[in-house]
Amino acid sequence: MTEKRDSSAPHGRDDPFWNSVASFGLDDIFVLPEWISELKGDKATSTTGGEGGGILEELAALISRVGDCRACRLCEERNTIVFGGGNPSAGIVFIGEAPGANEDIQGEPFVGRAGKLLDKILAAIGLDRNSVYITNIVKCRPPGNRTPSRNEVAACWWILEEQIRIMKPGVIVTLGAPSSRTMTGSSDGIGKLRSSIHRYGDIPVIPTYHPAALLRTEALKRPVWEDMKMLRKLLDELGLPGNGKN
Ligand code: URA
Repeated sequence: MTEKRDSSAPHGRDDPFWNSVASFGLDDIFVLPEWISELKGDKATSTTGGEGGGILEELAALISRVGDCRACRLCEERNTIVFGGGNPSAGIVFIGEAPGANEDIQGEPFVGRAGKLLDKILAAIGLDRNSVYITNIVKCRPPGNRTPSRNEVAACWWILEEQIRIMKPGVIVTLGAPSSRTMTGSSDGIGKLRSSIHRYGDIPVIPTYHPAALLRTEALKRPVWEDMKMLRKLLDELGLPGNGKN
């Protein structure tokens, strides 16, 4: 593989996303740096409120910048761009894979069966939709709920990157392999990534199984519970939720 990330990585040498892309085994660049820059609307950043803008205002400005995004082919069949839901000031961000059929219609993440299970998992550690923000690694539904491709993840990355920059969470929880790999920069499977705390910049990242996997495989409930206990402990140490920003 020809590794080109040093000179062309849009997010810099140590960026977990780019490391993760490199670890996929790509031998070519599929998103040009200037394209990312254009997608991010770098020139327009100053119009988002900057220092003085609140989280909600900045997120609203981000949504405007995304507009009717046509950056990848997922735009062809989607009904709604599903940005995320919950409390953007909570300090805790859960990141899933992609909207499914229900989410695509309703415009909210995790509203189907996996979402109902996620609600129960949150409740088990004293959280709910108002004490976390939930989003996905890609914002549009892949046809047939297939796993998003590398190109689709790459095309959508800047939106999540901006969401995290705006919300500045104290903790990130990744649900399933695509978001766990992207946020940790590792190509390991979720079975290996889970049960330890990784980092995205200086933000702790806790990977765990996707709730949809639990619906298929009951035996995964135990490891997810272990991961959630680890999350609860970390939240308590950090004084979250209710970290003073919300
Ligand atoms: N699965 C996900 O990963 N995200 C959703 O929003 C719904 C189901």
